[in-house]
Amino acid sequence: MSKKLDLVIFGATGDLCFRKLLPALFELEKGGLLNELERIIGASRTDLSPEQWRNDMTRTVPGVDTSSPHWQTLLARMDYVPVDSANNSGFTALAERLTLRDNTYIYYLAVPPSIYGEICAGLHIANIVQSDSRVVLEKPLGRDLASCQLINEDVAKVFVESCTFRIDHYLGKETVQNLLALRFGNILFEPLWNNHYVDNIQITVAESLGVEGRSAFYGETGALRDMLQNHLLQVLCMTAMEPPPSLEGDAVRDEKVKVLRSLRLFKPEEIAKHTVRGQYAAGTIEGEPVCGFLEEQGFANFDMTETFAAVRASIDNWRWAGVPFYLRTGKRLAKRQSEVVVEFKNNAFALFPQDHQETSNKLVIQIQPTENINLRMVNKKAGLSDQLKLQTVNLDLSHSQQSDFKRYAAYERLLLDVFRGNQTLFMRRDEVEAAWAWSDSITDSWDEIGLKPKAYPAGSMGPNAALALPEREGRSWHE
Ligand code: BG6
Repeated sequence: MSKKLDLVIFGATGDLCFRKLLPALFELEKGGLLNELERIIGASRTDLSPEQWRNDMTRTVPGVDTSSPHWQTLLARMDYVPVDSANNSGFTALAERLTLRDNTYIYYLAVPPSIYGEICAGLHIANIVQSDSRVVLEKPLGRDLASCQLINEDVAKVFVESCTFRIDHYLGKETVQNLLALRFGNILFEPLWNNHYVDNIQITVAESLGVEGRSAFYGETGALRDMLQNHLLQVLCMTAMEPPPSLEGDAVRDEKVKVLRSLRLFKPEEIAKHTVRGQYAAGTIEGEPVCGFLEEQGFANFDMTETFAAVRASIDNWRWAGVPFYLRTGKRLAKRQSEVVVEFKNNAFALFPQDHQETSNKLVIQIQPTENINLRMVNKKAGLSDQLKLQTVNLDLSHSQQSDFKRYAAYERLLLDVFRGNQTLFMRRDEVEAAWAWSDSITDSWDEIGLKPKAYPAGSMGPNAALALPEREGRSWHE
């Protein structure tokens, strides 16, 4: 019989715990998927009793019916231990709780990555890391390759790689996983999925929200490190990787890391041409006036922090040589919209010259706000005109019609995979480090030439220079 699980959440009084983790656990419990989970132990510096923690969480947890029996079942498993990794206190008390049962321990570090090392060391000294114990790490892991390597080293002193789960919640989104099914489950796309037939690929992750009071964290981080280095690159990997030999964790991750290593590094002399750095100024979102980034409370000194980043990336390998990958992400943009757009080349011969411009096929994979897949196809317009007239139609390939399936959110999916020990949707150490090596070539080049963020009005789609990125090459963003 397999061992039961104990989940220990460090950062148990923080945002991530009550906004994402507990609601995710609640949904899993509702779905009857948490039978193996015996205890949820909160740990943080705050001196609370287990009762106080349970009450605080019940009061603050969003989107959860706390009167339901499922929440009561979760509460019955919830315990709390004050732990302060800075002075190594509380680990003995945690060890006393854990070693009461012979369970598999899972440590979720919902705390800043700068203290991952001391938490891991504390767990090690308290002798509560066993060969099957797992650790879950949040992004961004460091702020560059060097700091990421240090964190990875510290974690690796205590946890082996096969027990280390680095979360990127974009990999938990249904449509991102559906990229695998779409590409490798159909014969239609894969033969065309290369530089012979694809003209360009665009990945947009646009948010209409602002920085939501996260001053210290976001001020130091910015859009490139917060979003592009991880979420957009992971989506890019799923779009661009070679077919893996199987869906085993390492088989998929081997292919992703090859993509990351094939990304062309940037040099200072070309950085202003291939990247755009922006910062939102005052503007209007959905008819409401909003302030600029520097006017947000606590951000006045962060004039060099970008809230928008766009990059024209190149993948130097056999499949993608010559195909531009346009990536962009930003806060306070016109709408919340995340999508991958694969734009195919035009036909080699224009049989319908008058309609030529409109006939390229486009596959639009929408991740947010709704999950949709549309293939733009060319069709004949009905009618008796003497010339054959064309129109474009969208073929809806979405699985949103599958209403008989409950859709689980990203954290629900990923937590369940941690409990099951499946690493396919988690980033391996070499992947994260390769992603940093590439994004360092951008940030180092920005620093070297002193590239300041360009202002864009809140409610727009970023600085004009971002529009110019594809336009300079005769293309445009899909809107
Ligand atoms: C997080 C970033 O990783 O992703 C946030 O730190 C961002 O800044 C969030 O808002 C976006 O996630 P989603 O799932 O809402 O697109």
